[in-house]
Amino acid sequence: MTDRLTPTSDNPNSVIPVHPAIESYMRGLVSKTDHPVLLEMETLAERKRFPIINRLVGIFLEMQAKMIAAKRVFEFGSGYGYSAYWFARAVGEGGEVICADGNIENKDRARNYLTSAGLWNRVDFHIGVAQDVFTQTTRHFDICYNDVDKGEYPEVWKMARERIRPGGLYIADNVLWHGRVVAETYTDVALGWTEAIVEHNQLIFDDPEFDAYINPTRDGVIVARRKDALRDNLSSNIGFGTI
Ligand SMILES: C[S@@+](CC[C@H](N)C(=O)[O-])C[C@H]1O[C@@H](n2cnc3c(N)ncnc32)[C@H](O)[C@@H]1O
Repeated sequence: MTDRLTPTSDNPNSVIPVHPAIESYMRGLVSKTDHPVLLEMETLAERKRFPIINRLVGIFLEMQAKMIAAKRVFEFGSGYGYSAYWFARAVGEGGEVICADGNIENKDRARNYLTSAGLWNRVDFHIGVAQDVFTQTTRHFDICYNDVDKGEYPEVWKMARERIRPGGLYIADNVLWHGRVVAETYTDVALGWTEAIVEHNQLIFDDPEFDAYINPTRDGVIVARRKDALRDNLSSNIGFGTI
């Protein structure tokens, strides 16, 4: 139960990054992305109060992945496949989204939903601790996406950053944690989660190998791009002086 000092989306005193009317306006603009499977997944999330990213964040993830022509994505904390739906669309035929979640029921649900959406053949869904599943993979990823328990965020960042290709992205959801990152007083979902998110965000912004930005939509989505010496030098040579 929330108290008056708890910044959550249910609390009128909470620090909400984007005004709900603005989010609702933005949501109204994207109804063409409606798909019967998505609507079912969103209805289930509401009924079970399961924390999926929402439609706006889903579209944002798909766009990020398409912009870097991502073909290989790793998801830490896949739930029943809602965020994977967007990545699987983006990677296209021949692309792969490696999903990891601790709950077997989530895999069964994901299989049903993503099969109906025609996307299951792009998904490789593992049950277990996401960090362990990740350790068993090899090679670099175009995108590592983090949505596990928030106390584990710094650990996931540290292991994922090494395995993102130059020009690739690290993306994590909930990095504003319903405003707790700026609240003086709050009640947390679990001990230490806010502190872990604050540490995670600072580590990323301090990392000289990455450029980062937080999109405040919903609960805050951080996107950190691994610098690419070849491409980044090329664009700095072009320079503004030539305009
Ligand atoms: C916020 S939900 C993920 C929602 C999903 N990304 C989406 O938007 O559709 C977090 C999920 O990660 C799982 N989880 C949390 N920590 C985990 C970990 N360390 N390893 C594997 N699964 C984890 C939870 O059981 C839950 O299903």
